[in-house]
Order: sequence, then C-alpha cells, then structure tokens
Amino acid sequence: MEARPVRSSQTTITELMIPSYANFGGKIHGGILLSMMDKVAYACASKHAGTYCVTVSVDKVEFLQPVEVGELVSLKASVNYVGRTSLMVGIRVESENVKSGEIKHTNSCFFTMVAKGDDNKPMEVPKLVLENDEDIKRFIEAMRVREIKEKVREEMDDAKSTIEVSMAGEILKNERCIIKLTR
Ligand SMILES: CC(C)(COP(=O)(O)OP(=O)(O)OC[C@H]1O[C@@H](n2cnc3c(N)ncnc32)[C@H](O)[C@@H]1OP(=O)(O)O)[C@@H](O)C(=O)NCCC(=O)NCCS
Repeated sequence: MEARPVRSSQTTITELMIPSYANFGGKIHGGILLSMMDKVAYACASKHAGTYCVTVSVDKVEFLQPVEVGELVSLKASVNYVGRTSLMVGIRVESENVKSGEIKHTNSCFFTMVAKGDDNKPMEVPKLVLENDEDIKRFIEAMRVREIKEKVREEMDDAKSTIEVSMAGEILKNERCIIKLTR
C-alpha cells in the first residue's frame, strides 16, 4: 500500500447558510455545522484511505461564535495522523460575511475515522507522507491528543465506578442541586 501525502486528501467544503438552517434565535443550528463537519471528515479520510470510512469519535467541537444566515461557511479538512486502521482528521471552520468580507474562525476540531473493507471490518490505511513542518507538527499533536484521550477515557470510567452515593451530601454541598429522595 503506497504512502500518501497530506495534501492529496485535503478537502474544503463551502456552503451558504440558508434561512432553513437557523434556530429560533436566528443563528445557525449547531447540528447543521456538525453534519457538515462529519461530511468533510468523511470525504478527507476516505480520499486518504481509498475506501469507505466511519466516524468513531469527535473531539473539541465548541461553538464559540454564532454563525449567521447569509454567511459562507468553509470547512477545511486534513488528515493529521494515521494509526493502523484509524485516521485523525483536523477540521478548521470559518464563516465569511460576504458583504463585509469579515472572516470568523468559529471552531477547530478533530474527527477520528476508521477505514472499513468490503467485509465491514477495520482495514489498514496508507502511511502518511509528511512534507513540511506543519504536517509534522499536526502529526505529533494528534499523537498527543490520542494519548490524552486514552487517559481521560480511563479516568472517566474510573470516576463513575468509584462514586459513593452515601457521601453525596458532602460532595454536593456547594452544588446547585437538591437531594429529594422519593424511594
Ligand atoms: C469503530 C469500529 C470500527 C471499531 O471496531 P473494533 O472492532 O473495536 O476495531 P479495533 O479495536 O480494531 O479498532 C479499530 C481502530 O479504531 C480505533 N478506535 C476504537 N475505538 C475508538 C475510540 N473510542 N476512539 C478512538 N479510536 C477508537 C482503534 O484505536 C483502532 O485504530 P488503529 O487501528 O489505528 O489503532 C466499530 O466500533 C464501529 O464500526 N463503530 C460504528 C461506527 C459508525 O457506524 N459510525 C457512524 C456514526 S453512527
């Protein structure tokens, strides 16, 4: 399987934000943007893998600035890292006001995708050719993110299994909740 450079699968999707994408407050629904992120991650990962890919996990999605109806949203995706069968795709989301030309960086996030073969099992993906400093930085950053995620996953499992309900009064004394047991 021949290694492929980052640039060969870089993908950009641009879409006009139409009124039917808006919520009751007149801003674009987060779900519309999430769906666009999933599409661009799929296109980018599948181009690199040369096969169908599925979304396994999504990290760092935050909606820090609202997107308005009439703006042009562009999502730029790059394969930042490849494992054996998984790929981490970095996505930068920008929204442009066509009248003023102002461009807002609304979010940068990571989608982990897994390549699937015709048997629907995870399939090995081509190695990634890193051609410049940016490619190298992103690959190392993604390796670190993967390690941090693994630790956080273990800690979250641990946090749930070690909860003592009998200590709830003390643990929750400064929280905005009221314990009112009904049985
Ligand atoms: C993702 C999926 C293929 C993993 O299957 P599996 O039998 O656990 O396969 P493996 O253990 O061999 O893992 C395959 C890869 O997924 C990665 N992976 C598995 N679970 C993961 C998780 N929670 N987060 C990130 N990566 C994960 C593994 O690290 C491995 O990557 P690598 O080969 O690069 O090291 C399987 O769970 C699946 O098909 N999920 C449904 C995906 C889907 O339908 N998505 C659409 C959204 S509804």
